[in-house]
Amino acid sequence: MSEVANRRAWAIIVHGGAKPIAPELHQAHRDGCLRALAVGQAVLEAGGSAVVAVEMSVRALEDDATFNAGYGAVRNARGDIELDAAIMDGASLAVGAVAAVKTLRHPISVAATMLSQTPVLLVGDGAEMFGREHDAEFCAPADLLVDRRGDPGCDTVGCVALDSLGNIAAGTSTGGLTGCHPGRVGDSPLPGCGLYADNQVGGVSLSGEGESLIRTTLAARLMHSLESVAPGAAIDAALARLGRVGGEAGLVVIDADGRIGWGHTSAQFAVAYASAGQPPHAFINRDEDPQEDSA
Ligand code: GLY
Repeated sequence: MSEVANRRAWAIIVHGGAKPIAPELHQAHRDGCLRALAVGQAVLEAGGSAVVAVEMSVRALEDDATFNAGYGAVRNARGDIELDAAIMDGASLAVGAVAAVKTLRHPISVAATMLSQTPVLLVGDGAEMFGREHDAEFCAPADLLVDRRGDPGCDTVGCVALDSLGNIAAGTSTGGLTGCHPGRVGDSPLPGCGLYADNQVGGVSLSGEGESLIRTTLAARLMHSLESVAPGAAIDAALARLGRVGGEAGLVVIDADGRIGWGHTSAQFAVAYASAGQPPHAFINRDEDPQEDSA
């Protein structure tokens, strides 16, 4: 069968973090998610890969100071910023991840460069050295700080995409948690905790309190459920498991059939999604979205 005959419907979903969002910032979160979505959507509509769509959408979120990733990162207890990011290719199960980096302008792109390399996760100076070896863009840490005007800006951005060849990718990027211990790394760069992608099952990107997501290996639990149930039910099961340790979370999911799901226990969770079958939508709360497991 030709590649064209094998083409399937693409789908993409982005999130801007599971957190309370002040009402005056709702529109900025919707708009930022829609802008990031459009970048990845354009890649998919042109026949590009899920990996590239995820990288490009997360780069757009890293560029938007509305979100705590890249530009807009928060300070740890020492006043430094430390960024984490990861991307996973569901075709090969390759993972690229960086953690506790201070000067990489786009951590998600360095993570994407790692997909073709052996290491899964590089930390701190080693990750920045890898970035220098591969012509990454650098900046001064201070260039990533913004005045958050009362918004704590904690948490993570992410994206899951399914391309027209049936390949799924997932990505995350975070500026960490305000006031956290220097060197602390959360779920975002850890496959099975903050993200996962497998063409045979689906993909997930999470946001929330990293320690809780790590203790419950929430991405892995979601993927396990997704083998037998639809995204909505898999998300409910994953979020119920979080109750064992407490903490808030939000998840965005696309399964291998292109069904989109999302859910959260946080007060708000900014999300935007689109697929070959439906135009872009953006939401701040799951209650706003009438669709269950939209395909
Ligand atoms: N979910 C982001 C973090 O805990 O670092």
